[in-house]
Formats: sequence, structure tokens, C-alpha cells
Amino acid sequence: YRRLRVALLGAGAVGSQVAGLLIRHADELADRAGAALDLVGIAVRDVDAPRDVELPRELFTTDAEGLIVGADIVIELMGGIEPAREQILLALTSGADVVTANKALLATHGPEIFDAADQVGASVYYEAAAAGAIPIIRPLRDSLAGDRVRRIMGIVNGTTNYILDRMDREGSDFADVLADAQAAGYAEADPTADVEGFDAAQKAAILASLAFHTAVPVDAVHREGITSIDKAVMDAARGAGYVVKLLAVCERLDGADESPSGEAISVRVYPALISREHPLASVHGANNAVFVEAEAAGNLMFYGAGAGGVQTASAVLGDVVSAARRHIAGGVGVGESTRANLPVLPIGRVTTRY
Ligand code: NDP
Ligand code: HSE
Repeated sequence: YRRLRVALLGAGAVGSQVAGLLIRHADELADRAGAALDLVGIAVRDVDAPRDVELPRELFTTDAEGLIVGADIVIELMGGIEPAREQILLALTSGADVVTANKALLATHGPEIFDAADQVGASVYYEAAAAGAIPIIRPLRDSLAGDRVRRIMGIVNGTTNYILDRMDREGSDFADVLADAQAAGYAEADPTADVEGFDAAQKAAILASLAFHTAVPVDAVHREGITSIDKAVMDAARGAGYVVKLLAVCERLDGADESPSGEAISVRVYPALISREHPLASVHGANNAVFVEAEAAGNLMFYGAGAGGVQTASAVLGDVVSAARRHIAGGVGVGESTRANLPVLPIGRVTTRY
């Protein structure tokens, strides 16, 4: 096999699992990728911090830039905007393809990053940036590219679903279950991103951009979190036959006043009352579910682990194999960085209830 140099940035809940699987499944991954994926280093803040997975000490470094230059594939799993943004741009300009799960970065700086990739003929893969282990980026970008998506609705944040589910089923206290979600590796480094709906809004912006072939700035997403949901709200909902879920809803609005063509979109994240008979009511724990309504395909449903280190590592490694295949084909093949310079559809207003 040809050998590819893989650099990993971050070894937290997701990164440590990705590193472990790259090492443990090296032979299988080489067969699938058509190239040996040599993990050449892992950049972290503290090389001596305890890790979820036992990893060779000599792989760790605090010199991310030194690791990036010379790599064929850079996997960014640090999270946050900086230094992730600068380091991804450095990776692209140094000739690497990039794999990232960083929805906060893509929802705010996506066009800059995809533009930079296009300019050098590199690719940015980001299947893990929405709904954890669930394949949803490729289905929207590739499988449904010939269809017309009308609506995406679902649960796209694992932490808040885990919290709401335990509050509903066990009567647990918000703060206690948030601490459990953090300990399980579901929550963002700053869990405000989860409980205030920022993370779900970032994912909704990414999904809507892909589904509607338009640029959706995250600031245009209507966002409400779950911090006002307490035991009284839960009890009232249960008494009336409902369950509370944090929903992301992205839809086309035909006949909208906001646009001369009558075409607009709406993207919003908010806690909703869901009938206990509705399929979303049975999405438990840190699972996610995404319903896609397309004109020709009809209704599609995607379900599975929306958060968690090893589950998310599955999506990341799928991207690494895709990046490796494309890399050894000399950059030929499907790239992911096709979202720069998209037209902007107006953001319309709706008051639909579910
Ligand atoms: P963690 O907070 O668990 O881990 C972050 C890692 O990045 C740590 O190893 C940390 O180093 C390292 N790091 C952070 N800042 C720097 C820096 N400035 N320089 C060098 N290293 C740095 O994050 P997760 O693994 O949970 O998440 C990683 C990414 O994956 C995020 O973008 C997140 O949104 C996304 N994601 C997470 C999911 C999950 O279930 N956790 C699911 C889907 C996506 P050190 O350990 O030394 O502190
Ligand atoms: N914090 C995120 C969540 C991780 O709970 O859904 C997965 O993107």
C-alpha cells in the first residue's frame, strides 16, 4: 500500500476514540482506503492529561502546526473557532484534505473554509458535524441531490434529548442530568452550546444549506434552548399526553411574502410539545432522529446515536476513508467542499406547530 500521513488535532471524547480505532483497525482500514493510514501524531493542550483510550505517549504533541505541515489528512477534533479555523486553513494550504466534526466552526466560517479548499483542490469532510453517528450529510448532499427537499425536522442534539428524556421518564433534576451528559462525553466543552440551542442551530444551518442549496447563516436561525423547561413544565406536558423535545425544523416556504419569487426558507430550533404517539417521542437518551420530506422520495427517517465519543468516531473514520480514497486518486472523486458562494434564499417567518 501507499502510506498516508494522518494528523489528529484533539484527543477528547471523540478524538481519543478515533485514534484508538485508527490504531486497532489499521489493517482493515488500509484495505478499505487502499492506503495505509499512519497516525503520525496527536496535538493536544496537555500531553499528560488522562485519555478515554490508552494511546502511545510518543504520539502526543502540543505543536499542532508542526504536525499539520507534511500531513496528507488532518482530522480536526478540538472544537471551537480558534485555533481550529487557522489550523484547518493551514492544513488545506499545506496540501492536506481535512476531516472535521466542528459544526460551530462550519456554521460560522464554512464559506471561508470551503473556498480555501476549492482554491487548492482539497476537500473538507464533515459527516460528524450533524447528528453524531447518523449519516445525514452525504444523504442530503449526494443521495438527494436530484430531488427537491421540502422539509427537515428532527432532534439533532444528543445532550438536550438525554436531559429532557431523563427529566420526563425519571423526574430527574436538570443540573444532575446535565452533569451526567457531560461525564458521558455528549456535551460540548461549554454545555451552554447544547442547552441554549446554539449547537442545534449550527447543525440546522448546515443541514438547511445542504438541503436547500443555499447559504444559511447561523444568525438567521431562530433559536430557543431548554433552560426554561423545569419539572412543572414536564409534568404539565405529561398530563396532557405530550413530551417536550428540542426540535430543529428547516423548511421551504413557497408563496412567502419575503421574496419576489415567493420562495423562502425557515430554519428554527425550539422546545416543542410532541404527542406521545409521534415517532419522535420514542427517541430516548442521546439518540437523534431526522425526518426528511422530499418531493420525489417522499418521507425518509434517519435515526441513531446523536452524540458520544465512539459513535461519532464511526462517522469521522468514514470521512477519513473517503479522504484517503480521494487523496490516492490524485484528488479525483467526490469532494465535500462545494458550499462556497451559494445563493441566499430569504429567511421567511412561519408559525407552524407540531
Ligand atoms: P473534547 O472537549 O472532549 O476534546 C477536545 C480535545 O481537543 C482535547 O483533547 C483537547 O486537548 C484538544 N484541544 C482543545 N483545544 C486545543 C488547542 N487549542 N490546542 C490543542 N488541542 C486542543 O471535545 P469532543 O471530543 O467532545 O468534541 C470534539 C469535536 O467534535 C467538537 O467540534 C464537537 O462539537 C464535535 N462533536 C462531538 C461529539 C460528542 O459526542 N462529543 C459528537 C459530534 C461532534 P486536552 O485533552 O489536552 O485538553
Ligand atoms: N454536544 C453535541 C450533542 C455533540 O449533544 O448533540 C454531538 O454533536
